[in-house]
Amino acid sequence: MKVSFIANKPVSSGTAIVFAGQNMAMGESAKSYSHSTQANFDAALKASEFKGESGKFFETFVMSGAKAVRLLVVGTGKDDTVDYEILTAKAVKHLLPAGETTLTVHMGSDASADDAARAAVGARLAAYRFDAHKTKATLTKTKQIQTLKIAVDDAAAAKASYENYHGPVCDGQIYARDLVNTPSNVLFPKAYAAKIKELESFGLKVEILGEKKMTALGMNAFLGVGVGSERESQFVIMRWEGGEKDAKPTALIGKGVTFDSGGISLKAGNGMWDMKGDMGGSAAVVGAMIGLAKRKAKANVVGLVGLVENMPDGKAQNPGDIVTSMSGQTIDVQNTDAEGRLVLCDVLHYTVTKIKPVAMIDLATLTGAIITSLGHEHAGLFSNNDKLAKQIMTASETTTEKTWRLPLAKAYDKLLDSPFADMKNIGGPAAGSITAAQFLQRFVGKDTPWAHLDIAGMGMKNTRHDPRETTFGTGFGARLLNRWIADNYEG
Ligand code: BES
Ligand code: ZN
Ligand code: ZN
Repeated sequence: MKVSFIANKPVSSGTAIVFAGQNMAMGESAKSYSHSTQANFDAALKASEFKGESGKFFETFVMSGAKAVRLLVVGTGKDDTVDYEILTAKAVKHLLPAGETTLTVHMGSDASADDAARAAVGARLAAYRFDAHKTKATLTKTKQIQTLKIAVDDAAAAKASYENYHGPVCDGQIYARDLVNTPSNVLFPKAYAAKIKELESFGLKVEILGEKKMTALGMNAFLGVGVGSERESQFVIMRWEGGEKDAKPTALIGKGVTFDSGGISLKAGNGMWDMKGDMGGSAAVVGAMIGLAKRKAKANVVGLVGLVENMPDGKAQNPGDIVTSMSGQTIDVQNTDAEGRLVLCDVLHYTVTKIKPVAMIDLATLTGAIITSLGHEHAGLFSNNDKLAKQIMTASETTTEKTWRLPLAKAYDKLLDSPFADMKNIGGPAAGSITAAQFLQRFVGKDTPWAHLDIAGMGMKNTRHDPRETTFGTGFGARLLNRWIADNYEG
């Protein structure tokens, strides 16, 4: 989709979207379309009973010069603040079946440069499709929006806001969606690492550690997850160095289980296909790094992802096996399906001891229990640091990537006691997401501000309520992480 920003005047081709508040309080751009065929417009509007209610539509054709233009009037309701991103996404979703290829979105006079840029983001997210594995025969059945014009009073300022921030961040989110949607026979650890390596063209530095190097580091908890797979595990470290030379970095960490069969603690077959998306945390980190690099963020950030496939076979680890993590702590692997924490514990320890970040956030599709707690509306947020938790909640609000804080507390620790090792990797039926976070905390220590986002309900969705979500992979997190860094580490 080609995005441009133009002066806020009527266009004479394609589809135009205009916004109207309660009782049809319309902006100038909307009025000028209606003036062209006033009598017809008024009669059609009356028949439609549309009164500018929030999120409702009135669709008609108007004459712009000698040409007919499809006009979609989008209600903004009584609210003073209009969310142009969501309303534009809603409008685009409504228009997609019409097969329109050119779209002009006329912003209301209240719209800021940021609103206009976000309208473009809303349109892109709503028009997103994952076409990589569809043949031409299927693809030609539906047309795509090729050209998107955002018509706004200060087009130059909107363009700058889009190109310097919102566009690159959206590129990262869309990349993350593609990763999550890609099946595990295509996106296995080595293929995934190779794809990340290609991102060096954006100015990222990418280091790939294979199983030999991980063995030398003692990352046995991580390695244990991959031993049942034919595919080699990969630990990938990405660096974006846009800040002061000696400024300590922040670290972003992602669970990248390219397929989670459960291992010997095999999952049930029904719905198991969703587990191609068990690398959603890593996708958010990769997407975030793309956003940072493309917008040339003035910060130093290290992204670390643990890529592994969790499979059962003759070499796979068994329930009850004991592994020694990189930190030296031993783990009784009572359930091979609680593998995300085994990957993350070594990556977290590596980060704290080798990267020594000022703060770090991990993202993981870690527990089914977080879906029981928060559904598909909020990611679970856990942190050992109130300031960091607050920063994330703020970024969460501005990006609409919602999070909800849950507790970490010593009282939960006893649930991880094992008679055979320093801890076991499951905590039993109670407080499943909390015991998982509590497990991770043991590898972080007290000195590094750390937050954990359990995105099992947010990284992938089979049901959609938000018009910006169009496929399984949401790309959740890429945007939140960029906002967090922009707000707190870019001066
Ligand atoms: N990848 C799953 C968690 C998950 C479940 C993500 C549903 C997305 C949707 C994770 O590795 C897992 O299997 N967790 C187990 C942990 C249990 C064995 C303690 C779970 O949640 O059932
Ligand atoms: Zn699992
Ligand atoms: Zn998993």
